[in-house]
Amino acid sequence: MNRSSLSRPARLLCAAGIAVVLAACQGRHDTAAAPQQADASPAPASAAPPVSLIPLPASVEHGEGRFDLTAATPLLAEGEGARTVATQFATLLAKGFAVEPALADGTGVAGAIRFAIDPARAGAGAESYLLEVAPEGVTVSAGDAAGLFYGAMTLLQLAAADDAGAVTLPAVRIEDAPRFGWRGFMMDPSRHFWSVDQVKQVIDAMALHKLNTLHWHLTDDQGWRVEIKRYPKLTEVGGCRVPAGDGGIEPSTGEPRQYCGFYTQDQVREIVAYAAARHITVVPEINQPGHATAAIAAYPELGSTDRKLVPSSEWGVFPNLFNTEESTIAFLEDVIGELIPLFPGTYFHVGGDEAVKDQWEASPRVQERMREVGAKTEMEMQSHIVARLEKFLAAHGKRLVGWDEILEGPMPPEATVMSWRGIEGGLKAAREGHDVVMSPSSDLYLDYLQTSSPDEPPGRPATIPMKQVYDFEPVPAALEEGQRHHILGLQANMWTEHTRTFERLQHNVFPRLAAVAETGWTPQARKDYAGFVQRLPAQLERYRRWGIGYAQTPFQVDATAEDDRKAGTAIVTLANPLGYEVRYTNDGSEPTATSALYAAPVPVTLPAALRAAAFADGKALAAPRTFVYDAASMLSRTDEQLATCPDAGRLLLRLEDDGPADGERAIFNTTIFYPCWQWNGADLEGVASVKVRAGRIPYYFQLAHDEPARRFEPARSAHGELDIHAGGCGGERIASVPLPAAPGADGFVDVVAPLAEELAGRHDLCLRFTGDTRPAMWVLDRATLQLR
Ligand code: ACM
Repeated sequence: MNRSSLSRPARLLCAAGIAVVLAACQGRHDTAAAPQQADASPAPASAAPPVSLIPLPASVEHGEGRFDLTAATPLLAEGEGARTVATQFATLLAKGFAVEPALADGTGVAGAIRFAIDPARAGAGAESYLLEVAPEGVTVSAGDAAGLFYGAMTLLQLAAADDAGAVTLPAVRIEDAPRFGWRGFMMDPSRHFWSVDQVKQVIDAMALHKLNTLHWHLTDDQGWRVEIKRYPKLTEVGGCRVPAGDGGIEPSTGEPRQYCGFYTQDQVREIVAYAAARHITVVPEINQPGHATAAIAAYPELGSTDRKLVPSSEWGVFPNLFNTEESTIAFLEDVIGELIPLFPGTYFHVGGDEAVKDQWEASPRVQERMREVGAKTEMEMQSHIVARLEKFLAAHGKRLVGWDEILEGPMPPEATVMSWRGIEGGLKAAREGHDVVMSPSSDLYLDYLQTSSPDEPPGRPATIPMKQVYDFEPVPAALEEGQRHHILGLQANMWTEHTRTFERLQHNVFPRLAAVAETGWTPQARKDYAGFVQRLPAQLERYRRWGIGYAQTPFQVDATAEDDRKAGTAIVTLANPLGYEVRYTNDGSEPTATSALYAAPVPVTLPAALRAAAFADGKALAAPRTFVYDAASMLSRTDEQLATCPDAGRLLLRLEDDGPADGERAIFNTTIFYPCWQWNGADLEGVASVKVRAGRIPYYFQLAHDEPARRFEPARSAHGELDIHAGGCGGERIASVPLPAAPGADGFVDVVAPLAEELAGRHDLCLRFTGDTRPAMWVLDRATLQLR
């Protein structure tokens, strides 16, 4: 359909959030001139540059001098565990530097790097290690293979190439151990599928961050993604969906175009082994009783509805629950039973979230089953199933983990709770004696946007910027001392409804996952956001070396402008989301480390173009952005530049167009409960009409009990109107234009709404579409004031 998101000119950004960031930015500038050490220990004057380790180790002591690492440096390792780690180190080192030292025989550490599993170090705790780098030699030792591996990952981060290309390690002594035993990341292949190779890339990156748990969300309404030999239709039928709108139509034939994918059991074994070699445990999730549409589509007898279901192409909360028959519980046990041998870890996740009970309430048979099992409420019925699965898992030596909804009914004492609706569920569970993993959507959902840049891919606002992720504390302050051990750790979740490509997944995950890793690993007292931000550029260099894609947006510059059309001037505010220094030019040239340092809003006379980049240590952190201010830009705002209407409520999403089937698509900010945009303070002097470029995307949301809250303004003509009000949506309607039945071939339509009368001064314009156009919806792409 269209590629407008690529060709859209540079955009201004909403002002309020940026002003806050700017304040933070200016605060940082005060200290930026005198960078702190990357850790709290003072470095001697003769030491190598400060080390920039992520996650920050528990203790770092700087030494004198450096160790030179060459292809001839012997790697000494005794025993299979140590040899494996030494080889992993050599392979990863070679990936980043053109140096691959080899394993050698011998015990003398002079000139060598020695890897040792030393039972005497076991007392330092699981996954801990000691790393000593001196000019004469290097020793990494640990009580277990995981600790040795993490020591090797730290050693890898210490490696730096000097100006002559030689690889060196600064003299240092690091004693280190993780704060938490569950340092997790959740991957969702159900909504969009990720290949074996992509999952391995994520595992590689997790290992480099010292994360140790991959939660694999294998089933959901939109797809069943793991082979179950006893129930082949789970993947034959449940593994394919037809995407909504044009994305689900084969362009050459007009036939439905399926989106399919699943992991064979051999592939599961391959991934689990690959993860284990990197000290990562894979926790599978089979979601029940909700998020079950794909499974019920494959085997309708499992469902609680007579409606024929297909794996869904929509997002949200569905009414479709597994039924409560013994045969369905047996099915779940069969599925889990087939998977248990594939996953050697302790935990098995059985979902439990967002199971709205309408179908169970309406089903005489479920009500009868409730009486049979003594469940007084539908939630108790769900708890009955959870208890059955817990017993089944326990009989196989496994522990059950579920989303925090499982707390709403009676819960087996052994169940572990994953707290996602804030931390309250986790707090309650820990007080009741349950183990808890904290993964609150408010702070650790990486499908939420990270900046307000128009270059963000589709996702879910509210925005969760880096600092918020970093500042999340898994142990609630209110939790009593005696129950704190129940907090196993934390986990970041990457849902992929709106994430169509692996590049976008990486964008959302990195570098925010580095902040999660630091919270999971580093002692709380050592955590320091300013220090983390200073260490990040070194981490970005590693990402580039290791081939890990990451978001550029936090390292670019955002701009807002207050413009004065009559005077032909604007005052431009620049900021970097992470507070790095901003430099800019106004002559079209690329900003460099000696360009003007941004210190205060810049007045410009139109036409003007500012090019700006963020810098650390004299290097640009990302490509510069260009901000153009001219007569046309003053009269025009994109969806990202507009506010949402005050009563537009929840669920502002950044949504993608449904075409073309492959390639780039336009992206729109829209609130789906009440799509409505507001241009605050629009100068209407001399304005005759407002032109709106509108796109049209599928309305592909299941809102369950929230559905009645979806507002549709009544249409007054066949296809509804674009209405414009002044003084906000409650103010007078000043313009209206009927909408066509459908957009043009490019997916857009321009509609022009003449103003009923000329209005002087500035006004808060409310722009909204009327009518219920489901299964599609109009979205605003750009609004332009047209002069008389
Ligand atoms: C969830 O985000 N529904 C666990």
